[in-house]
Amino acid sequence: MKHTITMTINGESVTAEVDSRLLLVHFIRENLDLTGTHIGCDTSNCGACTIMLNGHSIKSCTYLAVRADGAEITTIEGISPDGTNHPMQQAFHDQHGLHCGFCTPGMVIRSIDLLKNNPNPTEEEIRWGISGNLCRCTGYNNIVKAVQQAAKEMQKESQSV
Ligand code: FES
Ligand code: FES
Repeated sequence: MKHTITMTINGESVTAEVDSRLLLVHFIRENLDLTGTHIGCDTSNCGACTIMLNGHSIKSCTYLAVRADGAEITTIEGISPDGTNHPMQQAFHDQHGLHCGFCTPGMVIRSIDLLKNNPNPTEEEIRWGISGNLCRCTGYNNIVKAVQQAAKEMQKESQSV
């Protein structure tokens, strides 16, 4: 069965006709060509497909596109609309928080959501907060350092506003 859905993705309104069974991650990647959102497992285990939906990070491989009708979505392509690095992206760069980069878009989105809810997390809270996102390369230590750096930067930014 086909459905017409409308959503805002990275600030732009998108309307499309989709099949009932189409997963949101496939809609994002194949219909919209936003391939920064990755697919690692398709079973909600790895977090590579993490996006922001209505202000919360979700795994888009287990979310139907029709369910996102009316939603506001941000993918990795939209986290810094002015083209500069988001502080979280910069921190991953500075702290060498990636190797192959496959997990990175999902890890960055998840980490931004983590800091939104807990701007000054402990190391344990960071490790727990990103535990739904798997990385096969880094051993996580540099990812944790990156989130700590971003937390400092984002707190400075919020104090200067
Ligand atoms: S592709 Fe969605 S959690 Fe792995
Ligand atoms: S950097 Fe390769 S999976 Fe995380």
